[in-house]
Formats: sequence, structure tokens, C-alpha cells
Amino acid sequence: MFSLKNKNVVITGGASGIGRAIAVLFASQGASIYIIDVDVQAGEATAEAIKKDGFNAQFTLCDITNLDAVTAVFDKISDIDILINNAGVAHVGNASNTLPADFQRVMDINVKGAYNCLHAVIPLMQRNKRGAILNTASIAAHVGITNRFAYSASKGAIYAMTMSVARDYLADNIRCNSISPARVHTPFVDGFIAKNYPGREAEMFKELSDSQPIKRMGTPEEVAMLALFLCADESAFITGCDYLIDGGFVHLNN
Ligand SMILES: NC(=O)c1ccc[n+]([C@@H]2O[C@H](COP(=O)([O-])OP(=O)(O)OC[C@H]3O[C@@H](n4cnc5c(N)ncnc54)[C@H](O)[C@@H]3O)[C@@H](O)[C@H]2O)c1
Repeated sequence: MFSLKNKNVVITGGASGIGRAIAVLFASQGASIYIIDVDVQAGEATAEAIKKDGFNAQFTLCDITNLDAVTAVFDKISDIDILINNAGVAHVGNASNTLPADFQRVMDINVKGAYNCLHAVIPLMQRNKRGAILNTASIAAHVGITNRFAYSASKGAIYAMTMSVARDYLADNIRCNSISPARVHTPFVDGFIAKNYPGREAEMFKELSDSQPIKRMGTPEEVAMLALFLCADESAFITGCDYLIDGGFVHLNN
């Protein structure tokens, strides 16, 4: 079950965190992995670790905010079966204190970056009359997390783009779904705690863990398991869905 043998999988932001865990798991299921990321060191290290285990992976430096760069990378991969639109950045702030430049940066990476990858990959998938796309939204798309205005807006866009793409390409046999994790312990979380709460890292880590009814953060590997199900042929009847993976955050808080 859940074999990805002979599948070519592009993972944006596959160098780190959730994307890395997806790369490792999908490779172990037989896929050929194409990691695209702006972090050369981590990207190459992830590809090397996968190859050392006897599986297929390669890293390409690519900034997903640049459509020409994305198109050039995708055109070199003969057949893309699965796209994991995962790269993303966080930002702390509400509507009144979020500066235009910060809002723009989050939108450029989280929304336009995802659009660029969809725009580049869909014609390739249409040619083959098959494809599975998984976008990474967030619980922020559902509940608008406190003090994450730009981030929540960007993930709301991801949710809507997922539904739009799922609807528009039904006849091309392209499935499109999204996942909405609550906090998952990755460098993304450690990074924003360190940046925004210097000196209070341990306290903030506990506070963020305790904000989830299950009283811990998720692991990247747990998210990768859900991603595997949603991209494997076993979930062929699932499209136009967003899946919470949130330790009860959305439905069990309060
Ligand atoms: N960690 C969480 O708690 C959490 C929760 C919900 C959703 N998410 C989402 O999951 C995704 C992955 O998060 P993570 O926690 O694994 O983050 P991470 O920071 O560990 O990894 C993100 C990767 O994206 C890459 N990236 C950033 N900008 C890029 C660009 N312009 N072009 C190409 N690559 C770029 C980074 O270099 C990094 O390797 C993000 O979309 C994030 O919003 C994370």
C-alpha cells in the first residue's frame, strides 16, 4: 500500500521541517524526489541523506517567488506526478502593526510562490492526464491565529486556491488537496520563537505546545504520513479537501 514507485515528486521547501520529512518518507515509498529550496546547504544535505539510504533524490536551488526559475526547473523534470507546495514563511503581527514590506514578503512566498508552482506544473500534468497536488495551508486559514495577520491571510489564500484548482482540473484527472497543520515542531517554529521571544524560548515553546488540546506539537513525520495518503493512488477519490492535522486545535479548543 501507498507505493510511489515510478512517481516523480517535486517538493518545495523540501530542505527542512515538514518538507524534508515528506521527502524522506516519499523516497522510501519508491518515489524520485526533486527538492527545490533556497537553502542550498540543507537542500543538498537532505538529498544526500536520502541517497545514502539507497533512494532517489536531487536538490535544485530555486526561489519559488520567481516564475521563470520555477518554470525552468519544472521543464527539466520529464514527468511530474506529484507536487507538494510546502515552502512557506511565518510573520508575527496584527493588521495594524504589520508593515507593507512584511505583508508583501509573506504574500510573495506563501501565495505567489504557490501560484507559480501551480501555474508551471498544471500544463505538464494536463499533458499526462494525471497528477496529485498537495498544498500546505494551516489552522491559521480556519481560525486566524492570534497575531499572525499576514500569515493567516496567506494560508486562507492557499485554502481557496486548493478548492479552485481541484474544481478546474477535474476532467484532467488532477487531484488537489491541502493540509492544515497546527504547530509542528520544525526549524520554522524554533526560528520564529528565537526571533520574536528572545530569552523566553523555553517558556514560549511550552505555551505553544499547551495551546493545542493534545498538549504537544505535531512531528514532521506525522504530517508526512497524511501527505503520503493524500498523494498515493489509494486516495484517488479525494479531491478538493482540506485536512486538519492539529491535535484538536480547531474543534476541541474551548
Ligand atoms: N511548523 C508548523 O508549525 C506549521 C504549521 C502549519 C503550517 N506550516 C506550514 O508548513 C510549511 C513548512 O513549514 P516548516 O515548519 O517545515 O518550515 P521550515 O522553515 O522548516 O521549512 C520551510 C522551507 O521553505 C524554504 N523556503 C522559504 N522560502 C522559500 C522560497 N522563496 N523558495 C523556495 N524555498 C523556500 C526554506 O528554505 C525552508 O527550507 C510552511 O508552508 C508552513 O507555513 C507549518
